[in-house]
Amino acid sequence: MVSRFLLLMALSVCVSGTLVVKVAHSSYQAEVDQDLTLEWTFTPRPDSSLQTLNIFCSMFNPQKDLVLLNLHKGVEVPQKEGDFVGRVQCDKEVLKEGQIRLHLSSLKTEDSGWYQCDVLTEYGKSLDRCSLNVTGTLVVKVTNSSYQAKVDQNLTLEWTFTPKPDSSLQTLNIFCDMFNNKKDPVLFHLHKGVEVPQKEGDFVGRVQCDKEVLKEGQIRLHVSSLRTEDSGWYQCEVLTESGISLDRCFLNVTAAKNQSRSEGEAESLNTEMWGLKDIAIVITVGTIVGAALVCIPYCCITRSPSVCDRREKKRRKSNGIEVITKTRLYHD
Ligand SMILES: *[C@@H]1O[C@H](CO)[C@@H](O)[C@H](O)[C@H]1NC(C)=O
Ligand SMILES: *[C@@H]1O[C@H](CO)[C@@H](O)[C@H](O)[C@H]1NC(C)=O
Ligand SMILES: *[C@@H]1O[C@H](CO)[C@@H](O)[C@H](O)[C@H]1NC(C)=O
Ligand SMILES: *[C@@H]1O[C@H](CO)[C@@H](O)[C@H](O)[C@H]1NC(C)=O
Ligand SMILES: *[C@@H]1O[C@H](CO)[C@@H](O)[C@H](O)[C@H]1NC(C)=O
Repeated sequence: MVSRFLLLMALSVCVSGTLVVKVAHSSYQAEVDQDLTLEWTFTPRPDSSLQTLNIFCSMFNPQKDLVLLNLHKGVEVPQKEGDFVGRVQCDKEVLKEGQIRLHLSSLKTEDSGWYQCDVLTEYGKSLDRCSLNVTGTLVVKVTNSSYQAKVDQNLTLEWTFTPKPDSSLQTLNIFCDMFNNKKDPVLFHLHKGVEVPQKEGDFVGRVQCDKEVLKEGQIRLHVSSLRTEDSGWYQCEVLTESGISLDRCFLNVTAAKNQSRSEGEAESLNTEMWGLKDIAIVITVGTIVGAALVCIPYCCITRSPSVCDRREKKRRKSNGIEVITKTRLYHD
């Protein structure tokens, strides 16, 4: 970054000149792992000694800014760091012809960006740039684009991706999450082949990933004890050396069919209990105090509020399950 600015400052000192730099193509498209040659031409050609030739080529994108070639007075300044070390070669032979040829090898998706060469000679300064788009061959596909499930069921969501990762899995990164208009919890996160445990969110303890099949290019997430709130989009994003890709499916979790029936059951049980209230009271209270056996039915018949309230509370307690079930249904 700094050196590019310095060069630009140096270049701005000599403004006039007849030097013209032109890139061969203004945009390049390539795939991961391919090799590519970027080419610029400049006129007039340098003198045979190259001693007055200065070239600075760099690449930049929102994430980085790297030097590809730094030719100072005809001598290449070796680059010691950055993503391109060992992956860029400049064809020295053709420099004298007024050509800059940069051979890039083993392209990565992160190499996408702008490529610019600044040239400074005794004739002046000039620059030109091109864009490079490196796309991955990685493709993620969800097996089923939508799933329908019932509350409390278990479900296996499945994605496949090609190409398969290498056997070590070290270059495999996976991020799976779910989202609806209320939340966006993480289901599964694999970083460089190692699972990052989830400490919070709705799916803690409810998701298991089948590690065995990851090597085969399959993501299988077992989600247990589904809830209606789990309805939403499920998305897995995969990042490997072959690129980045994602796909999603929709899951609709509905209340179990039987639930309305069990509510009906609870309802009838309820009515029944009300019908049998006196017997219930006798049994319940009879175990405590004999005197109450006489008092409570009497009070309730005469609608004494304090004793009736207590009785109602007891009834609710003994039917705790039924009360919870009804509450949940109402909340749905
Ligand atoms: C790169 O190429 C891919 C596939 O052709 C395209 O979808 C994407 O929009 C391109 N990206 C840029 C920044 O041009
Ligand atoms: C997913 O799709 C396959 C075939 O497309 C089908 O056999 C399978 O039953 C589906 N699974 C679910 C859970 O819907
Ligand atoms: C659902 O998954 C849980 C946890 O993996 C398991 O204990 C349970 O037996 C499963 N239930 C069914 C019906 O498969
Ligand atoms: C979920 O399934 C139920 C029952 O089949 C249906 O009525 C509802 O429209 C579905 N919801 C969504 C968002 O697809
Ligand atoms: C309710 O569940 C029982 C078993 O749990 C099953 O045999 C029955 O068919 C279900 N009824 C409905 C209407 O789904």
